[in-house]
Amino acid sequence: MTSKTDLDLKLLRTEGDINISPNRQTWQVGHLSAETKRMLAEDAECFLHQSMSTPCLNAMKGASGAWIEDVEGRRYLDFHGNNVHQIGFGHPRVTGAIKSLLDQFSFCTRRYTNEHAIRFAKKLTTLAPGDLNRVLFAPGGASAIGIALKLARTATGRFKTISLWDSFHGASLDAISVGGESVFRKNAGPLLPGCEHTPPPDPSHCPFRCGTSCSLACADYIEYMLEREGDVGAVIAETVRNVPVIPPPDYWKRIRAACDKHGALLILDEIPIGLGRTGKFFAFEHFDVIPDIVVLGKGLGGGIFPLAAMIAREHLNVAGECSLGHYTHEKNPVACAAGLATLEVIEEEKLVERAAKLGASTVEDLRRRLSPYPLVREVRGLGFLLGVEIGDNKGNAVDASERIMYSALRRGLNFKVSKGNVLTFAPPLNITEKELDQAWTIVEAAIQEIQNSPVPSANS
Ligand SMILES: Cc1ncc(COP(=O)(O)O)c(C=O)c1O
Repeated sequence: MTSKTDLDLKLLRTEGDINISPNRQTWQVGHLSAETKRMLAEDAECFLHQSMSTPCLNAMKGASGAWIEDVEGRRYLDFHGNNVHQIGFGHPRVTGAIKSLLDQFSFCTRRYTNEHAIRFAKKLTTLAPGDLNRVLFAPGGASAIGIALKLARTATGRFKTISLWDSFHGASLDAISVGGESVFRKNAGPLLPGCEHTPPPDPSHCPFRCGTSCSLACADYIEYMLEREGDVGAVIAETVRNVPVIPPPDYWKRIRAACDKHGALLILDEIPIGLGRTGKFFAFEHFDVIPDIVVLGKGLGGGIFPLAAMIAREHLNVAGECSLGHYTHEKNPVACAAGLATLEVIEEEKLVERAAKLGASTVEDLRRRLSPYPLVREVRGLGFLLGVEIGDNKGNAVDASERIMYSALRRGLNFKVSKGNVLTFAPPLNITEKELDQAWTIVEAAIQEIQNSPVPSANS
């Protein structure tokens, strides 16, 4: 393998911790049996290698509620879960809905509709505010983003977009064109034309040097870009970056107004953070705006079916003569039944309210627990979108963050590290308070362990 510079490694780490780090190898040597190592080796022989996936960390044999289990029988609270587990893994309501259809109605052939697809779409549009009334389903988030980009082009007659550096919208070529992460874009060749990028509202890495809190200079710059270009079709962004990076209250209002003024659509990607994770069903409800298009995915199929949805405002129902999202499983009845059951669980178990309430008390709790540790730079969160930023002013934050993560894994908690130094936590919204407490006790113990042990290298 070619040797990588510190900058290369930093850019590789924007979305999640990487699979080529010495800390991972140390963890694997100490924790995995010969049988697991055999599986990992076989996996690495048959799958294409790619960052953040293959070669793998470990091998799983089960997932249930807030827990995953590895093949050696160790159980981990899963605060990663690829953000598919708003209602936990294998919720009986969803598996029941799936099982009830499997034997008699497993697929809906093109040109036909079915009751499950209609009920699911109607439920989504009922939950969506304003005139977000029109739905298209897709088999994954990136495909739904692609549909949104096509719809914006068709509806506005403009192809240019403005999106944010460091953002992620999926791994397909159209999604990485608007995405802003080097790990997906680098060496990919020519991407879609007209995709302009601008800095996100992240004061800790802000080229406008706004200081410790966002001055909204980045939002004003989007208006400047819209004005200068004059023919931008859409601004597309994650409402709140999953890291999390939480924009100031007026950020989206300012961009919404600028889009309206300059004839651009506002597309918000809520694929990992929708369905209540932030303490509102849609994260944009925190910011008092309504986008023209919102995209949901990840847990929409109950964490079982790959399923995403694009929901657009009524006035965007203008593409009847072209094919926006001609996906084979568009109205799959089993997927739609799983989706409807998921929405019902979220509603009946009051999971949005739960994420808001428990999320807020968790941030307080974490701030209190972690305040004695100089390694902890900041605790932030919105609902159950939670992050602990590690930083020690000695340049060891990336190494320390990884070691905290592996120490937590050893103790039974799984999560990812974003941007190299943010411990990123996504608990299921229906996790018990006891499990939550268990997780934060592990996080504290892991931080304490690394705080007290000498850090070998300076690499952040
Ligand atoms: C913000 C965001 N957008 C889009 C996607 C792509 O979704 P999928 O992996 O289902 O294509 C992801 C996936 O992680 C995401 O986090």
